[in-house]
Amino acid sequence: MSNVLRLGVNIDHVATVRNARGSAYPDPVRAAKLAERSGADGITAHLREDRRHITDADIERLVDALSVPLNFEMAATDEMQKIALRHRPHAVCIVPEKREERTTEGGLEVAREENRLAHFIAPLADAGCRVSIFIAADAAQIEAAHRIGAAVVELHTGAYCDYHAEGKLAARDAELARLREMSAYAHSLGLEVHAGHGLTFDTVAPIAAFPEVRELNIGHFLIGEAIFTGLQPAIMEMRRLMDAARRA
Ligand code: PXP
Repeated sequence: MSNVLRLGVNIDHVATVRNARGSAYPDPVRAAKLAERSGADGITAHLREDRRHITDADIERLVDALSVPLNFEMAATDEMQKIALRHRPHAVCIVPEKREERTTEGGLEVAREENRLAHFIAPLADAGCRVSIFIAADAAQIEAAHRIGAAVVELHTGAYCDYHAEGKLAARDAELARLREMSAYAHSLGLEVHAGHGLTFDTVAPIAAFPEVRELNIGHFLIGEAIFTGLQPAIMEMRRLMDAARRA
C-alpha cells in the first residue's frame, strides 16, 4: 500500500472573505498558488449552486493557473455536470448540497439514488475525471459508491471533529473507530479512500495515520489559521502533522 498521503487545500473561504465585501480581494487563485508553493498536493474548490464563495470565473482561472490537480466539488446537478465537462478537472467530488446549510453537513445518500448517480457520474468518468463521492463512513454507502463505479470515496470526518470540539471523547473515539474500519473496508473493495471536513491541527493525526487514506481535504481551519500565522506556515504545519502521524 502506498504510504503517500496527499493534502488537498480547499480555498473556498478565501472567496467567502472576498465576497463579504464584493471586492476582488483576497483572491482565491492567489491563495491556491501560495498553497501549491507551501506543499499542497492539490487544490479543492466547491462551486455551490448559490455561488456563495467560489464563482464560475474562479474555476476558470484555477483551471488555467494551477500546476497541481484541481478537485472540483459539486452537487449532482445538470448545471454542474456541464461545467465539469467543460473544464475536465483532474477530480470531481460529488457532494450533497442544501441551500440553507452553512457547510456540507452530511454525506451523500448514494444508496437511495444509486441509479441516477450511476448515470450522472458515467460521463464525468468518460471525460477522464476521477470521480469521488463524499459519504458518511457507512458500509451501505460505500457499497453503493462502489456499485455506481466511483473511483474514490471521501469519508466525512465532520462528526468526529465536532465530538472532539465538544469534549465528547467517547463518541469521538467511537466515530474514529468507525472511520478506521470503513477506510479499510472501502479500500478492500478497490476504492481509493480520501477523508475530510472539519479537520484541524488537533484532529488530523489519527485520520492521517489510517494506512488506506490517500488524501485529506482541508479548508476552513487552514484559512482561519492563516489570519494568525499566514497561509504558508499553516499549510506547512498541517503537512508536518500529517507526515509525522503517517510515520508513527
Ligand atoms: N471535503 C469535502 C467533500 C467538503 O465538502 C469540504 C468542505 O467544503 C471539505 C472536505 C473541507 O472541509 P473544511 O473546510 O471543514 O476543512
